[in-house]
Amino acid sequence: MLIESILKQRYSTRAFLDKPVPKETLKQIFASAQLAPSNCNVQPWQACVVSGETKDILKQKFMETLMSGATPNPDFNWYAKYNGIHRERQFGSANALYSTLGIARDDKKARQMAMVRNWQFFDAPHAVFFTMDKYLDIMGAVDLGIYAQTLSLILSEHGLSSCMQGALGQFPDPVREVLNLPQDRGILFGMSFGYADDDALINKTRTERESIDNAVAFFD
Ligand SMILES: Cc1cc2nc3c(=O)[nH]c(=O)nc-3n(C[C@H](O)[C@H](O)[C@H](O)COP(=O)(O)O)c2cc1C
Repeated sequence: MLIESILKQRYSTRAFLDKPVPKETLKQIFASAQLAPSNCNVQPWQACVVSGETKDILKQKFMETLMSGATPNPDFNWYAKYNGIHRERQFGSANALYSTLGIARDDKKARQMAMVRNWQFFDAPHAVFFTMDKYLDIMGAVDLGIYAQTLSLILSEHGLSSCMQGALGQFPDPVREVLNLPQDRGILFGMSFGYADDDALINKTRTERESIDNAVAFFD
């Protein structure tokens, strides 16, 4: 499929069919993603793909963490307080999601419940955690972002859908514990993926983009 068609049809998918992707296909997809570029070819990504029992255990750990009232403690300086136009766009994307679900602006409880779905992987059969050595910081974060988008496009080419999730980097301790990762490994973010449930209301959510007039400057 042409890259432009993939970009036009891709959207953040938040409901999936209960249908795992064959292991061989997963390996093929992740082998292709290895072709992503990185600064000095450092390839800092350490992708951790969770499925089946491991994913279920992690989901349970996340639920326990949330119910304990834990506050997020991401490994990296993730929480940005957006200003101005960025804040407007942030609200725009939240509104697109909640209005599709029929959740009112002041219905905090329903919004929280929708947020919790992140840590249930939106019932996707698989999720990938984008991890790297903590010391890499922003240098590695750039590369992991490029890797994640490369992966997302390859998934689309295989008829698979995904949702990148900063939420999956908010509680890194249960991830390190369940996946037995060393303390110096940081969890930047994650992505749930699988076959989209096309009938799910939440998957009707669409967001807008700025015209290039406000995003690109050409200097001749
Ligand atoms: C780095 C990153 C983190 C994101 N984190 C979340 C998240 O935690 N939960 C979620 O539902 N969507 C998350 N998203 C999806 C964005 O909300 C979505 O990409 C944006 O609103 C544009 O919509 P679209 O992907 O459908 O085009 C994230 C996207 C990116 C790129």
